Amino acid sequence: MRIFSGIQPTGRKHLGNYIGAIRQYVEGQDRGDPAIFCIVDLHAITVAYDPAELRERVYDTTAILLAAGLDPERCILFRQGDVMEHAELCWLLSSVTAIGELNRMHQFRDKSAAQRELVSAGLLFYPELMAADVLAYRAQEVPVGEDQREHLELMRDVARRFNARFAPEGQEILVVPEQRTPEVGARIMDLQEPTRKMSTTGGTPEGTVYVLDEPKAIEKKFKRAVTDSGNEIVKSPDKPGVSNLIDILAAARDITPAVVEEEMRSARGYGDLKVAAADAVVELLAPVRERYEALRGDEDALEESLARGAEKARELSAPVLADVRDAMGVGPRR
Ligand code: AMP
Ligand code: TRP
Repeated sequence: MRIFSGIQPTGRKHLGNYIGAIRQYVEGQDRGDPAIFCIVDLHAITVAYDPAELRERVYDTTAILLAAGLDPERCILFRQGDVMEHAELCWLLSSVTAIGELNRMHQFRDKSAAQRELVSAGLLFYPELMAADVLAYRAQEVPVGEDQREHLELMRDVARRFNARFAPEGQEILVVPEQRTPEVGARIMDLQEPTRKMSTTGGTPEGTVYVLDEPKAIEKKFKRAVTDSGNEIVKSPDKPGVSNLIDILAAARDITPAVVEEEMRSARGYGDLKVAAADAVVELLAPVRERYEALRGDEDALEESLARGAEKARELSAPVLADVRDAMGVGPRR
């Protein structure tokens, strides 16, 4: 099973990223043949950013992923901008993508509305580049959170359309990938506004738990988490705050929400649920933060590891690009 996922470069990875995505990467690296993980610096330049800072944030993310358990011996971890096949395939695939489809993407709508100055063409092309990321490796499985569903559907359409247009009858040049999203924790919500997803840009600072938060900060955020009226600890659509805490506790301890509800039956109130969730999250994240501190200090080692990953990534994507170019009639005949 070939697995691929991408992640934005930032040091502010949060609990939603960790449970929805990063933990699945770690689990996927032994199932993956291979498992490929990419820090998407080319996606990060589609909104306003600072060039010097971008490089730092790539190191932050690399160190977080290694601290979470990715092992460069068991997976391929690299920086998107180091492998030019991504940008090239993005351009080639644009010939089988309708502008209307890109224009309708919810994330494009939201992000362009939030831009103060320039709404870049890159922002419109974001999902195209994401399709290229995955299709360049003929990956079969893409571990992501629920918020990426629309992008995954576009990617699948692009692959199908490319095959229909350019592959010989009944054959596939590009693989149509499947989304993989965890059953519990596919969409972790903001602790202060539990009807909004936890997010670095759209959430509240108090309601967002960062992977690198100190245990004290994590406890404080859970203690102040917004709950709902009543006192029953059960998941229900009219209890978004309590449901989110149940899901977080279940995901952090790797049990089902039903088991959490059962265990919490003797609780004295929502306070007990908050304390249990905070304890479980501290236990989950504290070791990651500690390992991060040691890894982040050695930028040369991080750079070396990314460079080796990029070499391996190129070995896999270059032959796919050769097939794509050949099928499209681009460049000399093979
Ligand atoms: P990003 O940092 O935007 O690159 O996101 C990295 C991964 O985290 C993606 O697979 C997202 O789908 C996932 N993700 C982001 N926010 C959440 C959330 N609130 N709950 C679960 N997964 C999330
Ligand atoms: N758009 C994804 C996000 O914001 C990041 C991403 C870029 C990605 N390329 C990808 C995810 C390829 C999966 C596969 O989280």
